[in-house]
Amino acid sequence: MSISFTKLSANLGARVSGIDITADFSASQLEELRAGLVEHKALVFDAPGLTAEGQERFAGRFGAITTSHPTVPGDPTINILDVDSMSSKANEWHTDVTFVHNPPSITTLRAITLPPYGGETLIADTAAAYRSLPHPLRALADTLWAIHSNQYDYADIAADRDLSEKAKSYREVFQSLEFETRHPVVRVHPESGEKGLFIGGFTRRIESLNSNDSRDLIRILQSHVTKPEHILRVQWQPGQLVAFDNRITQHYAIDNYGNAPRKLSRVTVSGTVPVSVSGERSTVLKGDASHYTPSDETVAA
Ligand code: SIN
Repeated sequence: MSISFTKLSANLGARVSGIDITADFSASQLEELRAGLVEHKALVFDAPGLTAEGQERFAGRFGAITTSHPTVPGDPTINILDVDSMSSKANEWHTDVTFVHNPPSITTLRAITLPPYGGETLIADTAAAYRSLPHPLRALADTLWAIHSNQYDYADIAADRDLSEKAKSYREVFQSLEFETRHPVVRVHPESGEKGLFIGGFTRRIESLNSNDSRDLIRILQSHVTKPEHILRVQWQPGQLVAFDNRITQHYAIDNYGNAPRKLSRVTVSGTVPVSVSGERSTVLKGDASHYTPSDETVAA
């Protein structure tokens, strides 16, 4: 049986059939999946029976996996992060862990507990967003650099008043070590060469701009990322795994399921250091993430 990819929207997303990811698969099937992920940016698999170990093994076929998170502890025996609505709802547009030097290349999410309604994951194509910019804005974005951090800003801290005690302590743990990295606003994808807007929830400011201009410009660029045409809406079914290319997407978990529990398991594959349109690499400003991800030198594309 050959692998087939059925497109789910014009810009990104495909449902994968013809492969059982709960079992072992060949190197040539892996290459087909790798190419499918670069082309479609997000892949949806039906994988009933996939265990935590199976998810780790599947992700590990694509490259060295990261530990669960730079600050949020997971089960020490397995490199899985619980994305649990009881502590964090992930309802903010972001690319995973961009506050470190080499953020993950691929994120895999596995359905564990799904709410009776809602709880979809939105995935945005940041290359389509880049292409949708008017030419002068694209030329400007090509030259910009941004500072990404895991520290919340003052406005977020004010909003903390409305958070549950569990969510507050999650935030404290999340920020318990400080990370800050300077990344290009436009990242060149290391495999496809596509250019994408590399911003999202951990972007704190654009370098060399004052805070008003920086905020306004991030808002303008981000509004292109989140245009409905650039978005895949994943309506989770039990037993599914979704893998997306974290180098060229952002995602958002919709908080539309009230107080019902929602839980996914996340395993991420280590990535390379982002490179700008002019070939310049990101630089670390604060924090050592070597306990989380192998360095760029030991990670393939
Ligand atoms: C995440 O942000 O990694 C999880 C997204 C989700 O819960 O749908």
